[in-house]
Amino acid sequence: MTIRIAVDGTELEGRDGQTIAGVLIGAGRRSWRSAAGAERGVFCGIGVCQDCLVTVNGVEGVRACQRTARDGDVIEREAR
Ligand code: FES
Repeated sequence: MTIRIAVDGTELEGRDGQTIAGVLIGAGRRSWRSAAGAERGVFCGIGVCQDCLVTVNGVEGVRACQRTARDGDVIEREAR
């Protein structure tokens, strides 16, 4: 099943069961957060490094590599 999420106002398609990071990478995005002036995205991919943090439906600090994307999710970029 196809799902749709909004990332910083842009709608992206993914497949049911993918993580948010999976949808982002599938759309060709390798980074979606900035920290200390550098771009960050997936580093460990297993929920340890916290490089992939995003705001999901208004909740800050969600690990994109661990959160399953759900149809209608609204994802916002974080800068820490
Ligand atoms: S990529 Fe390391 S916590 Fe998500």
